[in-house]
Amino acid sequence: MKKWYFVLIILCLSLGTIYAFPFLENAITAPTPKYVRQVITADSTSSRTISWQTDLTDTPQFIEYKPLNSETLIKKQAITKILATDLGDFQLHSLTLTELIPNTTYRYRVGSDDAYSDWYTLSTAAKESNFSALIFPDSQCSDYTVWGDTVTSAITAHPTTQFFINMGDLVDNGASFYQWQAWLEGAKPLLPLIPIAPIEGNHEAYSLEWEFTLPTLYLSLFDLPQNGAKDLPGQTYSFDYGDAHFVVLDSQEKELDAYQPNLTAKQIPWLTQDLATTTKKWKIVLIHRGLFSHPDTANLNDLGKAFIPIFDQYHVDVVFSAHIHSYGRTRPLYHGVPAANGTVYISTGRSGDKTWESSLAKPYEVIFDRALDQPNYLVLNVNSTTLKVTAQKQDSIIIDTFEIKK
Ligand SMILES: [Fe+2]
Repeated sequence: MKKWYFVLIILCLSLGTIYAFPFLENAITAPTPKYVRQVITADSTSSRTISWQTDLTDTPQFIEYKPLNSETLIKKQAITKILATDLGDFQLHSLTLTELIPNTTYRYRVGSDDAYSDWYTLSTAAKESNFSALIFPDSQCSDYTVWGDTVTSAITAHPTTQFFINMGDLVDNGASFYQWQAWLEGAKPLLPLIPIAPIEGNHEAYSLEWEFTLPTLYLSLFDLPQNGAKDLPGQTYSFDYGDAHFVVLDSQEKELDAYQPNLTAKQIPWLTQDLATTTKKWKIVLIHRGLFSHPDTANLNDLGKAFIPIFDQYHVDVVFSAHIHSYGRTRPLYHGVPAANGTVYISTGRSGDKTWESSLAKPYEVIFDRALDQPNYLVLNVNSTTLKVTAQKQDSIIIDTFEIKK
């Protein structure tokens, strides 16, 4: 009996204290921001999207930020949405900061007055600047520490990179939040500090039962530019960085047929207009699946037949793809055959632990690496006269390097 009295007294005291001092309730329940991340915007000179996750809460979530050399802290409330997952509901908080100063480093933190994150830095792009970016091929894993090791190796070898690209199949099953959490953990050395430009892969369009579905969780997790093809925002988008224009395409016509029929054809008017209107010197396309038949490698597949005439018309410099987990680089191609000043097609390899032993070299590839020994990543360096790509193994041994000058 005495034990019950004791429990009752403690309970009354706790409730009474919270009632008397309501700020303590927030102190007790304010959730810790997790997986703070920067996401690419259409114009990185003046804007940046910041997103993070918390457990469910009524506590408003904010971003506080200021230029490094300023004393004036700006505070803005984030937009909060429910993040529905197979592990339960969370909240995703996100806001695109605008009117940032080009070529400037800011400090920022996120959360509520009772539970802020650490302070991080973000740097806006300079107009027409030199830049470098990391490109990570398929990161899907059975053990996501492998993905994390590739990330750590790449950023250690290239600490001044300004943003990073993931070529799709970020995770093995796009409906499994456990896998997304493991992926986010692996990307922690990058996500709070430089923006990600992700590309949807076919594995983002699988349900937990391995049936085709919309890439709902992918599109929830990444608050992407909404400037893509009609009815396909986020799945397609474009952005500028320095003197380069990047176009992101969706290659999942098979997976999304029941939800978004004629997916490839739907992107063509937007792709054409997007490439026709950019004034940037370098044009780069990012697409998960490649454009050549596999393993009948001499022919264009349906994606190639639809997109390559547009790439040729607007002189796209490089097309990066993934999906087959091997590295390969073609000679410059025009209408799918070798030609001076054509487009270079790069199959980027794999940054996770999934290998594909049946991958075959394409007829026009000057280098091919099945990437069975270890994962890899690419470094893209761009300035006003040169576009340079370097492919490196996880241990940073160089697989390939090439340049386009113009
Ligand atoms: Fe894939």
